[in-house]
Amino acid sequence: MITAYVNGQYVPLAEARVSPMDRGFLFGDGAYEVIPVYSRRAFRIDEHVARLANTLAAMRLANPHGAEEWKAIIGEIVARNPWDDQSVYLQVTRGADTKRNHAFPGPEVTPTVFLMSEPLVTPSAEQLATGVSAASAADIRWLRCDLKTVSMLANCLLRQHAIDKGCAETVLFRDSFLTEGAASSIFVCKDGVLLVPPKSHLMLPGITYDVVLELARAHGMTHEVREVLEAEVRSADELWMTSSTKEVLPITSLDGQPVGNGQPGPMGRQMYVWYQEFKQTVMRNGG
Ligand code: PDD
Repeated sequence: MITAYVNGQYVPLAEARVSPMDRGFLFGDGAYEVIPVYSRRAFRIDEHVARLANTLAAMRLANPHGAEEWKAIIGEIVARNPWDDQSVYLQVTRGADTKRNHAFPGPEVTPTVFLMSEPLVTPSAEQLATGVSAASAADIRWLRCDLKTVSMLANCLLRQHAIDKGCAETVLFRDSFLTEGAASSIFVCKDGVLLVPPKSHLMLPGITYDVVLELARAHGMTHEVREVLEAEVRSADELWMTSSTKEVLPITSLDGQPVGNGQPGPMGRQMYVWYQEFKQTVMRNGG
């Protein structure tokens, strides 16, 4: 049984209820986080809680909980669910009013807080061995992609674009520059240099993005954080997608063309090893 949290109550997920008048349902008016949990320790919980606070502030939605309260609720959800490695989903919406109105409701309407957890599913050995395919598309999202909001229609359409083409992810370009994936950050390797676009309003500030750059720095992998041209992506030696659940996953074909020699490359293999080492020694110990 999966235990969920709705507005102060821990309930079986199958019994969790919110109103159809909830603004998350009517308008996609909410924020979310996905937090990986290793050996029952939520990874970079402070960073996830801070990113949530940042999204809520930009949405002009008063944060219903302080950081310590959030950490206690997340800890309780982790403890009440059966898996050692989990993926905790957390969502805050602007709540349920009695009428439908785009403008914000009054202070009597309180935010809806929902959490659930799922087993953490990371890429299979086969996916890691062969890499995955990606399609590309124009980034049709809005200009606040730095916010982790539940208004996800564009991301859903873009991910489905990949699925329809038998691919795992869609790589997004805006004005001939790389932004990110439909639900991941995208790294590029070219001539021995790891490239990734800088954080901006055009991409989600990924927690895994930070980890990968920290590992590159710590181990001395040459890297540049700068705008990356679509042409550089299309002529890359390696492409990787990264996220809390995908970790570091090689993309070995883009729009039906092989990336590099069509096999996972040495820089990605190296980063994967560093990431797993970090996971076993730091993440599993609450670092
Ligand atoms: N998505 N970019 C987008 C658009 C994302 O949706 C995600 C994660 C990332 C990677 O962020 P992080 O490294 O913090 O997981 C980048 C989550 C996993 C999701 O929506 O399920």
